[in-house]
Amino acid sequence: MSSTVDPFSELKSRQRDMWASFAPTAAFTTPVAAHLVDFAQVKPGETVLDVGTGTGVVAITAARAGASVTGLDLTPALLDVARENAQIARLATVQWFEGDAENLPFPDGQFDVVLSQFGHMFAPRPDVAVAEMRRVLKPDGRVAFATWPPEHFVGRMFAFVGKNSPPPPPGAAPPPQWGSPGTVAERLGDKFEAPFFSRGIMHFPALSLSHYREFAERSMGPMQKLMEASAEEPERLAALRSEFETLAAPYYSANMIRMEYLLTRARAR
Ligand SMILES: C[S@@+](CC[C@H](N)C(=O)[O-])C[C@H]1O[C@@H](n2cnc3c(N)ncnc32)[C@H](O)[C@@H]1O
Repeated sequence: MSSTVDPFSELKSRQRDMWASFAPTAAFTTPVAAHLVDFAQVKPGETVLDVGTGTGVVAITAARAGASVTGLDLTPALLDVARENAQIARLATVQWFEGDAENLPFPDGQFDVVLSQFGHMFAPRPDVAVAEMRRVLKPDGRVAFATWPPEHFVGRMFAFVGKNSPPPPPGAAPPPQWGSPGTVAERLGDKFEAPFFSRGIMHFPALSLSHYREFAERSMGPMQKLMEASAEEPERLAALRSEFETLAAPYYSANMIRMEYLLTRARAR
Protein backbone atom coordinates (compact mmCIF):
# COMPACT_ATOMS: atom_id res chain seq x y z
CA MET A 1 0.00 0.00 0.00
CA SER A 2 1.69 3.18 -1.18
CA SER A 3 0.75 6.80 -0.51
CA THR A 4 3.04 8.33 -3.20
CA VAL A 5 1.59 10.13 -6.25
CA ASP A 6 0.83 7.73 -9.12
CA PRO A 7 2.42 8.92 -12.42
CA PHE A 8 -0.08 6.73 -14.31
CA SER A 9 -3.26 7.97 -12.63
CA GLU A 10 -4.57 9.50 -15.89
CA LEU A 11 -3.96 6.25 -17.81
CA LYS A 12 -5.78 4.31 -15.08
CA SER A 13 -8.68 6.71 -15.15
CA ARG A 14 -8.94 6.08 -18.93
CA GLN A 15 -8.74 2.32 -18.30
CA ARG A 16 -11.59 2.55 -15.78
CA ASP A 17 -13.75 4.21 -18.42
CA MET A 18 -12.55 1.91 -21.23
CA TRP A 19 -13.38 -1.38 -19.47
CA ALA A 20 -16.84 -0.34 -18.23
CA SER A 21 -18.54 -2.00 -21.24
CA PHE A 22 -16.75 -5.36 -20.80
CA ALA A 23 -19.53 -7.37 -19.08
CA PRO A 24 -20.91 -9.15 -22.23
CA THR A 25 -17.37 -10.36 -23.10
CA ALA A 26 -17.09 -12.13 -19.74
CA ALA A 27 -19.39 -14.89 -21.06
CA PHE A 28 -16.39 -15.95 -23.18
CA THR A 29 -13.75 -15.64 -20.44
CA THR A 30 -15.84 -17.85 -18.11
CA PRO A 31 -14.43 -21.21 -19.38
CA VAL A 32 -10.87 -19.84 -19.12
CA ALA A 33 -11.59 -19.06 -15.45
CA ALA A 34 -12.20 -22.76 -14.80
CA HIS A 35 -8.90 -23.61 -16.54
CA LEU A 36 -6.98 -21.02 -14.51
CA VAL A 37 -8.48 -22.05 -11.14
CA ASP A 38 -7.67 -25.68 -11.88
CA PHE A 39 -4.13 -24.85 -13.09
CA ALA A 40 -3.59 -22.77 -9.93
CA GLN A 41 -4.54 -25.84 -7.84
CA VAL A 42 -6.90 -23.78 -5.66
CA LYS A 43 -7.97 -25.82 -2.63
CA PRO A 44 -10.96 -25.53 -0.27
CA GLY A 45 -10.24 -23.13 2.58
CA GLU A 46 -7.41 -21.26 0.82
CA THR A 47 -7.48 -17.46 0.77
CA VAL A 48 -7.51 -16.22 -2.84
CA LEU A 49 -7.22 -12.75 -4.40
CA ASP A 50 -8.40 -12.22 -7.99
CA VAL A 51 -6.71 -9.11 -9.44
CA GLY A 52 -8.58 -7.42 -12.32
CA THR A 53 -11.61 -9.53 -11.49
CA GLY A 54 -13.96 -7.68 -13.86
CA THR A 55 -17.38 -9.31 -13.49
CA GLY A 56 -15.85 -11.85 -11.09
CA VAL A 57 -15.58 -14.96 -13.28
CA VAL A 58 -12.34 -16.19 -11.68
CA ALA A 59 -13.27 -15.07 -8.16
CA ILE A 60 -16.62 -16.87 -8.29
CA THR A 61 -15.10 -20.01 -9.83
CA ALA A 62 -12.50 -20.11 -7.01
CA ALA A 63 -15.24 -19.56 -4.41
CA ARG A 64 -17.21 -22.44 -5.91
CA ALA A 65 -14.07 -24.57 -5.44
CA GLY A 66 -14.30 -23.79 -1.70
CA ALA A 67 -11.77 -20.95 -1.41
CA SER A 68 -12.28 -17.81 0.65
CA VAL A 69 -12.14 -15.19 -2.09
CA THR A 70 -11.54 -11.47 -2.59
CA GLY A 71 -11.98 -9.83 -6.00
CA LEU A 72 -10.35 -6.49 -6.89
CA ASP A 73 -10.80 -4.30 -9.95
CA LEU A 74 -10.22 -0.76 -11.14
CA THR A 75 -13.69 -0.48 -12.72
CA PRO A 76 -16.69 -0.01 -10.39
CA ALA A 77 -19.25 -0.71 -13.16
CA LEU A 78 -17.85 -4.25 -13.50
CA LEU A 79 -17.78 -4.79 -9.73
CA ASP A 80 -21.53 -4.10 -9.69
CA VAL A 81 -21.98 -7.00 -12.12
CA ALA A 82 -19.58 -9.14 -10.05
CA ARG A 83 -21.70 -8.57 -6.93
CA GLU A 84 -24.82 -9.56 -8.85
CA ASN A 85 -23.04 -12.69 -10.20
CA ALA A 86 -22.02 -13.69 -6.65
CA GLN A 87 -25.58 -13.24 -5.47
CA ILE A 88 -26.95 -15.42 -8.29
CA ALA A 89 -24.35 -18.10 -7.47
CA ARG A 90 -25.31 -17.81 -3.76
CA LEU A 91 -21.76 -16.88 -2.80
CA ALA A 92 -22.36 -13.93 -0.54
CA THR A 93 -18.99 -14.44 1.19
CA VAL A 94 -16.88 -13.17 -1.75
CA GLN A 95 -15.52 -9.71 -0.94
CA TRP A 96 -15.20 -7.06 -3.65
CA PHE A 97 -12.78 -4.12 -3.65
CA GLU A 98 -12.29 -1.25 -6.05
CA GLY A 99 -8.53 -0.84 -6.40
CA ASP A 100 -5.35 -0.97 -8.44
CA ALA A 101 -3.04 -3.94 -9.08
CA GLU A 102 -0.13 -1.55 -8.48
CA ASN A 103 -1.37 -0.48 -5.05
CA LEU A 104 -3.27 -3.36 -3.45
CA PRO A 105 -5.36 -2.28 -0.44
CA PHE A 106 -4.40 -5.32 1.66
CA PRO A 107 -1.83 -5.99 4.39
CA ASP A 108 1.31 -8.07 3.76
CA GLY A 109 1.00 -11.86 3.72
CA GLN A 110 -2.81 -12.15 3.55
CA PHE A 111 -3.39 -14.62 0.67
CA ASP A 112 -2.46 -18.21 -0.21
CA VAL A 113 -3.02 -17.54 -3.92
CA VAL A 114 -3.13 -14.44 -6.14
CA LEU A 115 -4.84 -15.00 -9.49
CA SER A 116 -5.24 -12.71 -12.47
CA GLN A 117 -7.01 -13.50 -15.71
CA PHE A 118 -6.26 -10.92 -18.42
CA GLY A 119 -6.19 -8.35 -15.58
CA HIS A 120 -2.80 -7.47 -14.05
CA MET A 121 -1.35 -7.44 -17.59
CA PHE A 122 -2.98 -3.99 -18.02
CA ALA A 123 -1.11 -2.45 -15.09
CA PRO A 124 1.48 -0.17 -16.74
CA ARG A 125 4.41 -1.08 -14.44
CA PRO A 126 4.99 -4.85 -14.29
CA ASP A 127 7.65 -4.53 -11.59
CA VAL A 128 5.24 -2.64 -9.31
CA ALA A 129 2.38 -5.10 -9.94
CA VAL A 130 4.67 -8.11 -9.26
CA ALA A 131 5.99 -6.55 -6.04
CA GLU A 132 2.43 -5.87 -4.84
CA MET A 133 1.17 -9.38 -5.66
CA ARG A 134 4.20 -10.86 -3.87
CA ARG A 135 3.74 -8.56 -0.86
CA VAL A 136 0.15 -9.68 -0.19
CA LEU A 137 1.05 -13.39 -0.52
CA LYS A 138 1.89 -15.59 2.44
CA PRO A 139 5.56 -16.70 2.45
CA ASP A 140 4.73 -20.00 0.69
CA GLY A 141 1.90 -18.56 -1.46
CA ARG A 142 1.63 -18.70 -5.24
CA VAL A 143 0.52 -16.61 -8.21
CA ALA A 144 -1.24 -17.85 -11.33
CA PHE A 145 -2.17 -15.81 -14.42
CA ALA A 146 -3.82 -16.08 -17.80
CA THR A 147 -2.34 -13.64 -20.33
CA TRP A 148 -2.45 -12.97 -24.09
CA PRO A 149 0.71 -13.77 -26.06
CA PRO A 150 1.84 -11.10 -28.57
CA GLU A 151 2.08 -13.59 -31.45
CA HIS A 152 -1.53 -14.86 -31.32
CA PHE A 153 -4.83 -13.19 -32.16
CA VAL A 154 -5.53 -11.04 -29.08
CA GLY A 155 -1.89 -9.89 -28.85
CA ARG A 156 -2.05 -8.90 -32.52
CA MET A 157 -5.36 -7.10 -31.90
CA PHE A 158 -3.64 -5.03 -29.18
CA ALA A 159 -0.79 -4.24 -31.61
CA PHE A 160 -3.41 -3.12 -34.19
CA VAL A 161 -5.12 -0.87 -31.63
CA GLY A 162 -1.73 0.47 -30.44
CA LYS A 163 -0.46 1.43 -33.88
CA ASN A 164 -3.70 3.31 -34.67
CA SER A 165 -4.05 5.14 -31.31
CA PRO A 166 -2.16 7.95 -29.54
CA PRO A 167 0.95 6.53 -27.81
CA PRO A 168 0.62 5.45 -24.16
CA PRO A 169 2.53 7.55 -21.58
CA PRO A 170 6.29 6.87 -21.54
CA GLY A 171 7.22 3.91 -19.35
CA ALA A 172 3.92 2.00 -19.73
CA ALA A 173 4.68 -1.63 -20.71
CA PRO A 174 2.60 -3.12 -23.57
CA PRO A 175 0.14 -5.65 -22.00
CA PRO A 176 0.92 -8.63 -24.33
CA GLN A 177 4.55 -8.70 -23.12
CA TRP A 178 2.98 -10.69 -20.25
CA GLY A 179 2.23 -13.44 -22.80
CA SER A 180 5.88 -14.36 -23.47
CA PRO A 181 7.23 -17.02 -21.05
CA GLY A 182 10.77 -15.58 -21.06
CA THR A 183 9.51 -12.12 -20.10
CA VAL A 184 7.20 -13.56 -17.43
CA ALA A 185 10.08 -15.55 -15.88
CA GLU A 186 12.27 -12.44 -15.90
CA ARG A 187 9.56 -10.28 -14.30
CA LEU A 188 8.83 -12.78 -11.53
CA GLY A 189 12.62 -12.77 -11.07
CA ASP A 190 13.98 -13.33 -7.61
CA LYS A 191 10.58 -12.93 -5.88
CA PHE A 192 9.27 -16.30 -7.15
CA GLU A 193 10.52 -19.81 -7.94
CA ALA A 194 10.85 -20.74 -11.64
CA PRO A 195 7.35 -20.58 -13.17
CA PHE A 196 5.32 -23.43 -14.72
CA PHE A 197 3.52 -22.68 -17.99
CA SER A 198 0.59 -24.11 -19.90
CA ARG A 199 -1.58 -22.94 -22.77
CA GLY A 200 -5.20 -22.95 -23.82
CA ILE A 201 -7.58 -21.66 -26.46
CA MET A 202 -10.59 -19.44 -25.85
CA HIS A 203 -13.16 -19.96 -28.61
CA PHE A 204 -15.24 -16.90 -29.33
CA PRO A 205 -18.48 -17.72 -31.24
CA ALA A 206 -19.36 -15.30 -34.06
CA LEU A 207 -21.81 -15.64 -36.93
CA SER A 208 -19.45 -13.78 -39.28
CA LEU A 209 -16.27 -11.72 -39.02
CA SER A 210 -18.43 -8.60 -39.11
CA HIS A 211 -20.49 -9.91 -36.18
CA TYR A 212 -17.28 -10.38 -34.22
CA ARG A 213 -16.04 -6.88 -35.12
CA GLU A 214 -19.38 -5.33 -34.18
CA PHE A 215 -19.26 -7.12 -30.82
CA ALA A 216 -15.67 -5.98 -30.24
CA GLU A 217 -16.61 -2.37 -31.03
CA ARG A 218 -19.30 -2.49 -28.34
CA SER A 219 -17.73 -4.53 -25.53
CA MET A 220 -13.92 -4.67 -25.87
CA GLY A 221 -12.77 -1.34 -24.49
CA PRO A 222 -9.57 -0.81 -26.52
CA MET A 223 -11.35 -1.59 -29.83
CA GLN A 224 -14.39 0.45 -28.81
CA LYS A 225 -12.29 3.53 -27.99
CA LEU A 226 -10.32 3.25 -31.24
CA MET A 227 -13.46 3.08 -33.37
CA GLU A 228 -15.23 5.82 -31.38
CA ALA A 229 -12.23 8.11 -31.96
CA SER A 230 -12.66 7.61 -35.73
CA ALA A 231 -16.46 7.97 -35.77
CA GLU A 232 -16.34 11.37 -37.53
CA GLU A 233 -13.99 10.11 -40.28
CA PRO A 234 -15.96 7.58 -42.37
CA GLU A 235 -13.05 6.67 -44.65
CA ARG A 236 -10.66 6.03 -41.78
CA LEU A 237 -13.35 4.08 -39.93
CA ALA A 238 -14.02 1.88 -42.97
CA ALA A 239 -10.26 1.29 -43.44
CA LEU A 240 -9.83 0.33 -39.77
CA ARG A 241 -12.79 -2.03 -39.89
CA SER A 242 -11.47 -3.68 -43.03
CA GLU A 243 -7.95 -4.02 -41.57
CA PHE A 244 -9.36 -5.54 -38.38
CA GLU A 245 -11.43 -8.13 -40.23
CA THR A 246 -8.38 -9.03 -42.36
CA LEU A 247 -6.38 -9.51 -39.15
CA ALA A 248 -9.09 -11.73 -37.61
CA ALA A 249 -9.79 -13.81 -40.76
CA PRO A 250 -6.99 -16.41 -40.34
CA TYR A 251 -8.23 -17.12 -36.80
CA TYR A 252 -11.87 -17.60 -37.83
CA SER A 253 -13.33 -20.98 -38.68
CA ALA A 254 -16.40 -23.05 -37.73
CA ASN A 255 -18.11 -19.83 -36.58
CA MET A 256 -15.47 -19.21 -33.91
CA ILE A 257 -12.44 -16.98 -33.42
CA ARG A 258 -9.50 -18.87 -31.97
CA MET A 259 -7.74 -17.01 -29.13
CA GLU A 260 -4.68 -18.72 -27.66
CA TYR A 261 -3.63 -17.80 -24.13
CA LEU A 262 -0.71 -18.52 -21.80
CA LEU A 263 -1.09 -19.76 -18.20
CA THR A 264 1.64 -19.16 -15.61
CA ARG A 265 1.97 -20.50 -12.06
CA ALA A 266 4.81 -19.70 -9.66
CA ARG A 267 5.46 -20.20 -5.97
CA ALA A 268 6.79 -17.34 -3.86
CA ARG A 269 10.40 -17.47 -2.69
C1 LIG B 1 -9.94 -8.02 -20.09
S1 LIG B 1 -10.73 -7.57 -18.58
C2 LIG B 1 -10.66 -9.13 -17.71
C3 LIG B 1 -11.70 -9.27 -16.63
C4 LIG B 1 -11.83 -10.65 -15.98
N1 LIG B 1 -10.64 -11.03 -15.25
C5 LIG B 1 -12.17 -11.70 -17.00
O1 LIG B 1 -11.31 -12.54 -17.31
O2 LIG B 1 -13.31 -11.69 -17.46
C6 LIG B 1 -9.45 -6.60 -17.82
C7 LIG B 1 -9.80 -6.15 -16.42
O3 LIG B 1 -8.65 -5.60 -15.77
C8 LIG B 1 -9.05 -4.45 -15.04
N2 LIG B 1 -7.87 -3.61 -14.83
C9 LIG B 1 -7.16 -2.91 -15.76
N3 LIG B 1 -6.13 -2.28 -15.17
C10 LIG B 1 -6.17 -2.59 -13.85
C11 LIG B 1 -5.39 -2.23 -12.71
N4 LIG B 1 -4.32 -1.42 -12.83
N5 LIG B 1 -5.74 -2.73 -11.51
C12 LIG B 1 -6.82 -3.55 -11.37
N6 LIG B 1 -7.60 -3.91 -12.40
C13 LIG B 1 -7.29 -3.43 -13.63
C14 LIG B 1 -10.14 -3.83 -15.89
O4 LIG B 1 -10.96 -2.95 -15.16
C15 LIG B 1 -10.88 -5.07 -16.38
O5 LIG B 1 -11.88 -5.47 -15.49
